[in-house]
Amino acid sequence: MNIQALLNDKVAAAMRIAGAPEGSPAAVRQSAKPLFGDYQANGIMAVAKKQGCNPRDFAQKVLDVLDLEGMASKTEIAGPGFINIFLDETWLETQAEKALKDPRLGVNLAEKQTIVVDYSGPNVAKEMHVGHLRSTVIGDAVVRTLAFLGHHVIRANHLGDWGTQFGMLIANLEEHETKGTDISMDLRDIEGFYRESKKRYDDDETFAKKAREYVVRLQGGSPYCKEKWHTLVQITLEQTQRNYDRLNVSLTDKDVMGESMYNPMLSEIVTDLKNKGIAVESEGALVVFLDEFKNKDGDPMGVIVQKRDGGFLYTTTDIACAKYRYETLHADRILYFIDSRQHQHLLQAWSIVRKAGYVPDTVSLEHHAFGMMLGKDGRPFKTRTGGTVRLVDLLDEAQIRAKKLIETKNPALCEDEKNNIAETVAMGAVKYADLSKHRTTDYIFDWDNMLAFEGNTAPYMQYAYTRITSIFNKAHLDKNTLDGKIKISHEKEKALICKLLQFEEAILGVSREGQPHILCSYLFELAGEFSSFYEKCPVLNAENEIKQSRLKLAALTANTIQQGLDLLGIKTLERM
Ligand code: ARG
Repeated sequence: MNIQALLNDKVAAAMRIAGAPEGSPAAVRQSAKPLFGDYQANGIMAVAKKQGCNPRDFAQKVLDVLDLEGMASKTEIAGPGFINIFLDETWLETQAEKALKDPRLGVNLAEKQTIVVDYSGPNVAKEMHVGHLRSTVIGDAVVRTLAFLGHHVIRANHLGDWGTQFGMLIANLEEHETKGTDISMDLRDIEGFYRESKKRYDDDETFAKKAREYVVRLQGGSPYCKEKWHTLVQITLEQTQRNYDRLNVSLTDKDVMGESMYNPMLSEIVTDLKNKGIAVESEGALVVFLDEFKNKDGDPMGVIVQKRDGGFLYTTTDIACAKYRYETLHADRILYFIDSRQHQHLLQAWSIVRKAGYVPDTVSLEHHAFGMMLGKDGRPFKTRTGGTVRLVDLLDEAQIRAKKLIETKNPALCEDEKNNIAETVAMGAVKYADLSKHRTTDYIFDWDNMLAFEGNTAPYMQYAYTRITSIFNKAHLDKNTLDGKIKISHEKEKALICKLLQFEEAILGVSREGQPHILCSYLFELAGEFSSFYEKCPVLNAENEIKQSRLKLAALTANTIQQGLDLLGIKTLERM
């Protein structure tokens, strides 16, 4: 149920009949105050101004032909020419009843698109760090939301699995293997292995020479180097998968489309760019000069697509990658969840992609950028000694803190249950803290805030859900098989129903803007609306018909919170 879209269509149609030009937006929004109704149409004034007529007169003409059959109980002209719309109670009751019966909670399927979502993208032989956390968590929430709307979603994990660093990694792996130690043990600290390889490369010329040779052999497709490369990729993926599983992130091995996958396509692309006159030779390298990007001297910026030594770059790969996603995966929309420092890189790659005609303008290439993760001091998030924080360590700490919290809150629970709750709360808290912020800003990582049971946090939302289910447990009722009818008898019930029916609007916001905080805010408001309802409207102690109706509203609220959190990749608990 998308009330906003429904009203928009109806008001826009009435505006057309009243003489507005084709396509004039009705601009229907949720009202800021109950006094202004439940929704308000804001588009009248702009049209009246263009037509040179009095906005209130024009609003009247619109009202004369506006047909909201049973949907609204009252409409009125307000201020300079707004139309306030008050939804009809019987209509709301029917819609709420339908939502409760529907496993989709009344959320319509969208017109199906194929949407590629590029997210997570860790690097081989590098531990995932907190910077990858944002991409992974935000991307996965958007993926789940798009899938729920019925889209064909293709998760693309752009693994950093190619590049000259593999020469030294392979050479070092070979040394470890000749030593006969257990490789899987040696690679447990994969980042340490990376550092060790780098050190060998810097210190030992024979090693460095071999490493460079291996780069060439790997690129030439040598089975020996390929096999070693594969070992490194596999070990990284196993470690990464543990983080994904722990965080309830839906990525698997099947979603890996790493940089190496595009490597065989690069030389053909570069030749094509050259033939099309887009790339030109400059000091031995192949370069695309982009007028829309200026360098320091105000000249068109040169983007290298092939180095003098024949090597390709990160940008070349992203050109091939966008092309592949359109040509082979048939994407209608391509979303990239990558930190904002890569914005220029992406714009350059896409600019070349458009010039070469690899992806038509009808297919959107969207950079959903996000800022950095900062510590409480406002500086980049680092360990006490100044190193990058490993994701595993961060998740471990979250779990320890959550456990302490549960111990004080609910000491009577058995150990297993405490651990389970701690894990659910901890992972929820880490994710929700990130998801609930406006994505593009830098975000301050603060344990106390994210684990608080008050405010817009995961524990608060998880607890809101548990509190509602406990109403049913107390009364030995199953929230999925309730009798009776939803009947509004109090203004708080009406407000709660209105909020419940705005679930689809929130979901569509996430889908459109790639901003999960829209859904977080919605769920937080919903929980608040439920609290004020619960405060004013007794449920179990109400007389029968009212009690049944209120139980149904409680059930719909619980289901909506649970579904909403599930779209964010956050689990709920029956007890906490
Ligand atoms: N591996 C990259 C990094 O760690 C992220 C990949 C982003 N995706 C892309 N298509 N470039 O920064």
